[in-house]
Amino acid sequence: TTLGASAAERGGRYFGTAVAANKLNDSTYATILNREFNSVTPENEMKWDATEPSQGNFNYASADQIVNHARQRGMQVRGHALAWHSQQPGWAQNMSGSALRNAMLNHVTQVATHYRGQIHSWDVVNEAFADGGSGARRDSNLQRTGNDWIEVAFRAARAADPGAKLCYNDYNTDNWNDAKTQAVYRMVQDFKQRGVPIDCVGLQSHLNNGSPYPSNYRTTLSSFAALGVDVQITELDIEGAPAATYRNVVNDCLAVPRCTGITVWGIRDSDSWRASQTPLLFNNSGGKKPAYDAVLSALNNG
Ligand code: G3I
Repeated sequence: TTLGASAAERGGRYFGTAVAANKLNDSTYATILNREFNSVTPENEMKWDATEPSQGNFNYASADQIVNHARQRGMQVRGHALAWHSQQPGWAQNMSGSALRNAMLNHVTQVATHYRGQIHSWDVVNEAFADGGSGARRDSNLQRTGNDWIEVAFRAARAADPGAKLCYNDYNTDNWNDAKTQAVYRMVQDFKQRGVPIDCVGLQSHLNNGSPYPSNYRTTLSSFAALGVDVQITELDIEGAPAATYRNVVNDCLAVPRCTGITVWGIRDSDSWRASQTPLLFNNSGGKKPAYDAVLSALNNG
């Protein structure tokens, strides 16, 4: 009768949502969260700017609120995100070279150590590939420290929290034929061949008219899984929330044994980073939308 319970009955999968700490005392929000979901991802609270506002000074207050809320209720936590070109604190934005590399590695180590044993999966590195047809890495201050910045971040995360699954997370990686998807695939394949610790790939799956639901989405999921990693749908939202598309996404995940969970990127449309596109499962009043019914019935029967 709920998303989380139904997902759990499908091979122990989870159904999660992004959560904002400052909404936990909104009773409509908390009621839906506690009823429907068995996994949470802090939407902003674990990012570099939030957790290390000045170098070497760590602030876990808001993230801890979410982690405690979740764990007290038996929900899993997805950690998001240890290393990312965006939402860096100002002091890091101004760094480069080995100083930035060391600051990034210290950040990964400190945050993963703080939450050691409490995180189901970490987005260790987020959005490191360029959009478009190049298949190249995204240019960023982190990329300019050297192409190996991703693998050293994964090794640091593994050392700090050996029990967490370590994920590479990105968007516009849904269509199997896209250069970006292929580039991420080749990186994961290379990491597996060389023993770089990686356990999962996160497909954000922010779908809209520009990047619609691809008919080969299931191929994307199963191809990554065939490399020996779990696949997670990590930030799902769909412009207009068409019930049929939500149903397809859920059915595709269920068809791939190593697609272990789905996270929607917010609860009500009004909670969304793109609220005007009404992309989520609950309306602004907290009512279930047709997309909700489609997801629940796919989880139960699909
Ligand atoms: O916290 C401040 C607040 O103090 C201030 O008054 C307010 C005024 O603008 O801004 C608040 O911060 C905003 C924050 O969300 C919390 O609401 C930031 O400006 C805003 O940039 C930030 O947006 C977040 C965005 O990531 C930043 O990149 C969104 O909430 C969040 O949903 C979005 O999530 C990302 C994933 O992390 C990675 N994948 C894409 C996804 C969507 O963009």
